[in-house]
Amino acid sequence: MSKKILVLPGDGIGPEIVAEAVKVLEHINSRFKLGLEIDHGLVGGTAYDETGFPLPEESLNKAIAADAILLGAVGGPQWDKLEDRSKRPEQGLLDIRKNLGLFGNLRPAILYPQLADASTLKPEVVSGLDILIVRELTGGIYFGQPRGIRTLENGEREGYNTYVYNESEIRRIGRVAFESAMKRNKKLCSVDKANVLEVTVLWREIMEELSKEYPEVELSHMYVDNAAMQLVRAPKQFDVMVTGNMFGDILSDAAAMLTGSIGMLPSASLDKNNKGMYEPCHGSAPDIAGQGLANPLATILSVAMMLRYSLNEGAAADVIEAAVSKVLDQGLRTGDIFSAGMTRVSTREMGEAVLAAL
Ligand code: NAD
Ligand code: IPM
Ligand code: MN
Repeated sequence: MSKKILVLPGDGIGPEIVAEAVKVLEHINSRFKLGLEIDHGLVGGTAYDETGFPLPEESLNKAIAADAILLGAVGGPQWDKLEDRSKRPEQGLLDIRKNLGLFGNLRPAILYPQLADASTLKPEVVSGLDILIVRELTGGIYFGQPRGIRTLENGEREGYNTYVYNESEIRRIGRVAFESAMKRNKKLCSVDKANVLEVTVLWREIMEELSKEYPEVELSHMYVDNAAMQLVRAPKQFDVMVTGNMFGDILSDAAAMLTGSIGMLPSASLDKNNKGMYEPCHGSAPDIAGQGLANPLATILSVAMMLRYSLNEGAAADVIEAAVSKVLDQGLRTGDIFSAGMTRVSTREMGEAVLAAL
């Protein structure tokens, strides 16, 4: 039976980077005879402009029916002033994650040796870097109730959100992290704020409880402020990190810079059956949108993750990753990873080069 892939380009640089990634996916589809059916849909601000909703029902239904989803990015300044927050582009993305139960977000930060000079950190700090951030994606403060902005009796307004995790939510993301660590160097660092926040006291307790099932994995705990510092001080101390939704959002952007650029960081967002959505960790980059400046590699590498995690085509994923490495060997660089002596290329040229290297 053929498999359905839904492509949601979104806003800003989304359509530019996704176009390159789709070329790669189409090539792999015919070369490996995968029989994938590739369909497109609307999401984000673009969807709001066309339909009045950031996640139109048609897109949600297509997403539910798909075997895997490739998403570009959503959001942009033109939608930041929307009065109705449920219409924001970002809400479209959050709604897909929640509706599809994509709680397990894998964000691998790997430094390609060719990019050691592109990182703002010293080459010896980042060379050989290979860490995996496991971020909980459908709970925590992003989704906790109650939330809102209310007016107090004295007329002053107050904004509030709720940071909440129940045991089963913590346990299922913990399992993803322990299982990931088992396939890697068997070191897991759980990042929390258990010195202040009860929700993460429970988080820590559940991680400890789970660790009894994974005696081979060396579990450690770190407060999130220290973790942010350690990520830039000595990132290679980490193998797998597991954390909640908001801490994971922040730490993965920091980790991205260890790889040279946020334009290099792919991600997988998985449900309990490894159905997934794949997207770069970065946003819609309105500052460079429409200029051919965006780095498409994070999106192309997200296609590799799709093949590996949702389509069981690890060999095809390896081929894409090798092609990315080859174009870096050729000295081709978009602006974000440019360094002296290299050849500057556009979004499309980078995509074409990966295609040629395949
Ligand atoms: P951003 O990640 O879009 O951009 C941050 C910086 O990184 C910018 O200078 C941008 O030019 C650069 N950058 C990002 N991706 C790049 C790429 N592929 N190649 C080269 N440079 C790249 O973050 P932001 O500016 O805080 O947010 C912009 C919009 O994107 C907001 O509306 C935000 O809500 C949204 N956003 C969406 C997602 C997503 O769809 N998953 C993620 C993050 C932010
Ligand atoms: C990300 C983004 C999203 C998040 C936003 C756009 C909702 O920053 O995917 O990292 O915070 O999860
Ligand atoms: Mn983010």
